[in-house]
Amino acid sequence: MSFSPSCVLVTGGAGFIGSNYLLKVVPQYPETDFVNLDLLTYAGNLASLGSIESADNYQFEKGDVADSEFVSELFRRYDFDAVVHFAAESHVDRSILDPSAFVRTNVTGTLALLQACLHAWNDSFENRLFHHISTDEVFGSLGKTGVFTHDTPYSPRSPYAASKAAADHLVRSFGETYGLPFVLTNTTNNYGPFQFPEKLIPLVISNAMRGLEIPIYGKGENVRDWIHVEDHCAALDLVLRRGTEGSTYLIGGSQEVNNLDLVHALLEELDLQTSRPAGTSKSLIRFVADRPGHDFRYALDSSGTESELGWAPVHDIQSGLAMTVKWYLENKAWLAGVRDESYKEYYSKQYGSR
Ligand code: NAD
Ligand code: TYD
Repeated sequence: MSFSPSCVLVTGGAGFIGSNYLLKVVPQYPETDFVNLDLLTYAGNLASLGSIESADNYQFEKGDVADSEFVSELFRRYDFDAVVHFAAESHVDRSILDPSAFVRTNVTGTLALLQACLHAWNDSFENRLFHHISTDEVFGSLGKTGVFTHDTPYSPRSPYAASKAAADHLVRSFGETYGLPFVLTNTTNNYGPFQFPEKLIPLVISNAMRGLEIPIYGKGENVRDWIHVEDHCAALDLVLRRGTEGSTYLIGGSQEVNNLDLVHALLEELDLQTSRPAGTSKSLIRFVADRPGHDFRYALDSSGTESELGWAPVHDIQSGLAMTVKWYLENKAWLAGVRDESYKEYYSKQYGSR
């Protein structure tokens, strides 16, 4: 399949992955219009999009994906032929504190978008596509060996993962029941520029920059497969334009590392780049109570994506982490801008009792 959309609705484009995606595709495809629908929750930040905000083919619309009337009205105003759906509540720890926002945005919001597509594309599904962005967490938790494949049954274990799994099921059900054309991607842990400092990598960097404690859940033995956000966005672009309708693409980084090793590597890099004596930042590490239901390990088999689309990640974890540390050190103003009241409130709920 080769698809060249003319007007793409990108939801959650002010968040971490959505902003990196827009920063790539808006200049790359000047003939395509991109409309960014984002509610600007604590995780959304228009400052991430400064370099494209006045591009002729970019438009921002503030709104809630779960507000079906607003979404329908948006589909009346624009002739979207593709939707790339990033918008979500995305942090596992927040989902443990308050699952309801996750059901609203991730499940009800996805349903509202699917219904709007169905209604707007009623005359013909030709050259239309709904691209749903999902996570490897829908598959549950791996032991020390093995990888998630297309055949792995869903087994979400956190409210976040359960809400993403529900959304994935809704997308596939609209494909089966109504013939809605879709592609679905499940990816591993992303890292890189413009990530809100509640996720492990930006949290470690920003806390170390400010001399604050670095919380490690449990013993730090949990393993994640890390993908640089640029590699993920390159895969997403290929999936939208060349992916097979009705297919699922697994997008992994093939860079597995346990949390403690990852944090050590990050802090060594930070000490190096800030000319601190080697080992200085490691003294900030604190082992704290484990996350309830903490998934032990994630890993994805992305060989199918690689062979079908000719994609492969180009960033290895060591150089990717060095680039990321450098980016945060050079973008202190961006980091300061996202540390708002909601973050402080969340942080005290999360760590206040520990
Ligand atoms: P993020 O939390 O950084 O950004 C989410 C964005 O969605 C924000 O801009 C926020 O304002 C917006 N948003 C939230 N609720 C909304 C609503 N009701 N209406 C409209 N906009 C709303 O998330 P991210 O890390 O960029 O993740 C993007 C997508 O990728 C999510 O669907 C997530 O589940 C998935 N994903 C992320 C990772 C990762 O490592 N970050 C890994 C796998 C999958
Ligand atoms: P996170 O970035 O929240 O992503 P996810 O839960 O989706 O994998 O966490 C990555 C890993 O780091 C996970 O095993 C939990 C752990 N972690 C900590 O040890 N300390 C922290 O402060 C955070 C946020 C995460």
